[in-house]
Amino acid sequence: MTAFATASVTAPLQLFDFHPVLADFRSAVLQGLSQTPKRIPATWLYDQRGAELFDQITALEEYYLTRTEMQILQERAVEIGDRITQGALVEFGSGSSQKIRILFDALRAKGKALPVYVGLDISKQHLQQSCEDLQRDYPELAAIAICADYTQPLRLPDVPVLQNRHKTAFFPGSTLGNLEPEDAIAFLKTVAHLIGPGGDLLIGIDLQKSKSILEPAYDDAQGISAQFALNVLTRMNRELGANFDLAQFRYEAVYNEALGRIEMYIVSQIAQTVEVAGEAIAFAAGERLYTEHSYKYTPAQFNQLAAQAGFRTRSVWTDSQALFMVVDLATCP
Ligand code: AVJ
Repeated sequence: MTAFATASVTAPLQLFDFHPVLADFRSAVLQGLSQTPKRIPATWLYDQRGAELFDQITALEEYYLTRTEMQILQERAVEIGDRITQGALVEFGSGSSQKIRILFDALRAKGKALPVYVGLDISKQHLQQSCEDLQRDYPELAAIAICADYTQPLRLPDVPVLQNRHKTAFFPGSTLGNLEPEDAIAFLKTVAHLIGPGGDLLIGIDLQKSKSILEPAYDDAQGISAQFALNVLTRMNRELGANFDLAQFRYEAVYNEALGRIEMYIVSQIAQTVEVAGEAIAFAAGERLYTEHSYKYTPAQFNQLAAQAGFRTRSVWTDSQALFMVVDLATCP
C-alpha cells in the first residue's frame, strides 16, 4: 500500500483549540514586567520559533536531559509500555512526540494494543503536526489533539473514546521543573483530578547534579539557549508592537545551589526604556528579566512533592549516572 492510501484510511485528527488569545499574552507580559524582579512566564517562550529552538536545544551535546530520558525509556520500554496498553494516554507538552514513539514501538513489537492518544500542547502548529505524524506512522492510533496552556485548570473533552478507560498522564522532559514547588504541587493535583482514581502519571524529572554539568546545559557554546530566551523579545516586538533592541540584551543561566534550580534571565546591558503594548517599561543597566526557573530534585525531594499532591510512587527508573529519572506515580484511590 502506498503512504497516501495508508493516510487516507486514518481517521481525521480531532483538534480541540483552547489556545490562549493575544489578550492573554499582552496581560501576562504587562503583569510580569510590572513585577520586581521582572519576569515572563515560561509558557510564552513557545511560539513557533521558540518550539523550533527548543527542539534544537534537545539535540545539543551539553543538554543531556533529552537523550538520557530517551535512553531510560528505551531500556525500560516493555515494562513501561505494559502500564499504558489499552488505556488512554494523555501527553502533556507533546512537542515532537519522539518519546511516546519509543513506548508505542515496544507495544507494537509485542503485538499489543496502543492506548488512545491525547496530545496536549500550547504550540498549535507543532501539536497538529506531531499528532498527524503519529497517525501516519501508527495508522491504527486513535488520536485527539488539545491546544491549551496546561498550567491552567483543564478537563478532557467529553468524547466516547475516552470514557471508561484507565488514564495515564505522560509528562516527560522534566518540564515540571519550570514550576515553583508550590505550583508544581497544584499542577500535580490538577493531573490527579484529570486522570482520576487509579490513574497513573509517568513523569520525567531531572536530578540534582554539579553546576559544571548544569550550567552548560542551559547556556551552550553555540548560543541556542540564548536565542531561545531572547526569542521572547522578538515575539513581543511582533505580537505586542514592542521595540526591544536585541543587541542591548544578553542571556545568562546560573545554578542556584541553595534552591536547587537553574535561573534563566535576560540582562539589560544599558539603562533603557522599551515600549511594550503601548506602555513604557524602564530597565536599569544590568537589570534582569527572568524567563525561566528549572528546578532539579533529589529522588527523596520529588517523592515528597508528589506525596503532597496525593500521589504514591510505583516505580523509579534512572540511568547509570543518575542524571535523570522517570517515575510512575499512582493516584491514591
Ligand atoms: C522544557 C522546561 C524541560 O528546563 O530543561 C531548556 C526548558 N530552557 N533550556 C528545561 C529549557 C532552556 C526545559 N524544559
